[in-house]
Amino acid sequence: MVCTPAGGDKAAWIFRTLAPKSHFILTYSGKVVWITGASSGIGEALALAFAREGAILVLSARNAGRLDGVRAACEALGAQAIVYPLDLANNGEAERWVREVLDKTGRIDVLVNNAGRSQRARALETTRETDRELMEINFFGPVHLTKAVLPVMWEQGGGQIAVVTSIVGKFGFPLRSTYSAAKHGLHGFFESLQAELAGSPVRITIVVPGRVRTQVSVNAARGDGSAYGVMDAGQAQGIPAGVCARKIIRALKRGRKEILIGGRETWLVHIRRFVPALYRRIVQNVSPT
Ligand SMILES: NC(=O)c1ccc[n+]([C@@H]2O[C@H](COP(=O)([O-])OP(=O)(O)OC[C@H]3O[C@@H](n4cnc5c(N)ncnc54)[C@H](OP(=O)(O)O)[C@@H]3O)[C@@H](O)[C@H]2O)c1
Repeated sequence: MVCTPAGGDKAAWIFRTLAPKSHFILTYSGKVVWITGASSGIGEALALAFAREGAILVLSARNAGRLDGVRAACEALGAQAIVYPLDLANNGEAERWVREVLDKTGRIDVLVNNAGRSQRARALETTRETDRELMEINFFGPVHLTKAVLPVMWEQGGGQIAVVTSIVGKFGFPLRSTYSAAKHGLHGFFESLQAELAGSPVRITIVVPGRVRTQVSVNAARGDGSAYGVMDAGQAQGIPAGVCARKIIRALKRGRKEILIGGRETWLVHIRRFVPALYRRIVQNVSPT
């Protein structure tokens, strides 16, 4: 049974009951923030945005040379940063990665699972090897890294984990079958984790971008796994990565459970939910590139 107070206390009781239970973080100054996919696009922009906040950055991706450039840019903003190269396809090593990062930093306050690889190939043209690679990078990578980091955050008494999914984690889209499946999988996994961690000091934020102007289409996999190599017309019209990064940090500070970021393309999430027949007509006719 829920007891409500009488009279003047009622408004305060309603506010307390309805207000989000998350606490607001004012700054990431001095916090250890680990970003995957920090060598390019959204991850690079996030690294710079967290550097402006005074965070201590751990920058991960495969390309150590590019990561080094991002590290130098973070340091130029007055932040501390280290480079920790890794390939998410080898996610069986996630526990070792976490131990090695902890050896260097002593704690992990925030993990941003941002690295990912998109797809530009029809389902039937995508080889089994490419299907598996896309699942390893986009699904098992963030899942296993998160499972390796969670015990550390428990022991520390708290932390924050963000996962960057996609609007195609909310609906299917041509030329994205396996990528979309992996991103749908992230929603299932991280929503379940949010429920399991409710009331705990570890917070999970699911970030759902629409189109952001990055190299994501250029780096996307063709059916045989090779790089697509083309900047899609739609991609070129996406929001700047810096804008996306600022919105992600604001969502993290507010302890948001989920945030949709982008332009008009994000409407399709709502159309899919409320008018599915219209969604089907749109995705059958829209240009997928
Ligand atoms: N841009 C968009 O419109 C958009 C929309 C929805 C969702 N997203 C998601 O946003 C995230 C960031 O993408 P982006 O747009 O910034 O694209 P991006 O410019 O291509 O950056 C992708 C990042 O992921 C890293 N990465 C790729 N494969 C990796 C692997 N096997 N192991 C470790 N790191 C790997 C890349 O670094 P290395 O090559 O150095 O490894 C790079 O730093 C991805 O999860 C993507 O799915 C983007």
